[in-house]
Amino acid sequence: MAEITTERKLAWITGASSGIGRAVALKLADRGWQVAVSARSVEKLAALAADRPGLIHAYPLDITDGEALKVAVQDIERSIGTIDLALFSAGGYVRDTARRFDAQEMAKLFNLNVVGTGHALEAVMAPMIARGRGHIAVVASVAGYIGLPGGGVYGATKSALITLCEALRPQLEREGVVLQIINPGFVDTPMTRTNDFPMPFLIKEDEAADAIIKGLESKRFEIVFPWKMKVAMKLLAAMPYGLSLAVTRRMLRKE
Ligand SMILES: NC(=O)c1ccc[n+]([C@@H]2O[C@H](COP(=O)([O-])OP(=O)(O)OC[C@H]3O[C@@H](n4cnc5c(N)ncnc54)[C@H](OP(=O)(O)O)[C@@H]3O)[C@@H](O)[C@H]2O)c1
Repeated sequence: MAEITTERKLAWITGASSGIGRAVALKLADRGWQVAVSARSVEKLAALAADRPGLIHAYPLDITDGEALKVAVQDIERSIGTIDLALFSAGGYVRDTARRFDAQEMAKLFNLNVVGTGHALEAVMAPMIARGRGHIAVVASVAGYIGLPGGGVYGATKSALITLCEALRPQLEREGVVLQIINPGFVDTPMTRTNDFPMPFLIKEDEAADAIIKGLESKRFEIVFPWKMKVAMKLLAAMPYGLSLAVTRRMLRKE
């Protein structure tokens, strides 16, 4: 993998029009990286590129369109250079409830968070394997460790990504490609700003980006932060169901 502090490396970030992806894009550019940024919002990406002229380059796309991701990788590699680091942060959230459960909404979120990330993985894995080097990081969540009331569908998409990456890591390692999973706790971004429930250990986008960059340099499989959320969620997930369900029952809210 490329050292994060080395100049003239190229990163490609999905979900870079806001939140965590945008914060990492800015920090990498400030370290001298070339950064290709993707999301659907053309204007937000253009504004981000204009913030760091010559360093950040906009490649608008929808990650549910597999062909668009392949074309973007070809365009980026042709016009800027080889992608050293691919960071997949694009994703969405829906709150679900047992009383108004909607399988169509579930399918949509799986198509975005899981299949969309699958398209992105497919687009970069083949060229990286062919080169025998590369670095990929997938943003999942600590919500993927255990089901929490209201976050069942979202958590299930993130569990799927964690499982997928666990399975791919040794295979990619053999090919010279580093794969990491990023599991943030609550981060103050447009995604969480409308939440009307308590978000313990909430951190700022900037802190999340610093933790991600530090984790990318470590090459350890899992990048998880903040540490208090990590401990709380890992403990909860390790408990016998009698105990963990007693805890999650206390998270139930009036519907
Ligand atoms: N914030 C948290 O507390 C938290 C915690 C754990 C994990 N995460 C994960 O972190 C990642 C980033 O979330 P965030 O908090 O930074 O939220 P955010 O600010 O809402 O960012 C989501 C990003 O994904 C992009 N996106 C959404 N649908 C897309 C699509 N179909 N195609 C391409 N891009 C798409 C959005 O851009 P456009 O709308 O312009 O397409 C945006 O850039 C997500 O995977 C989220 O699940 C967040």
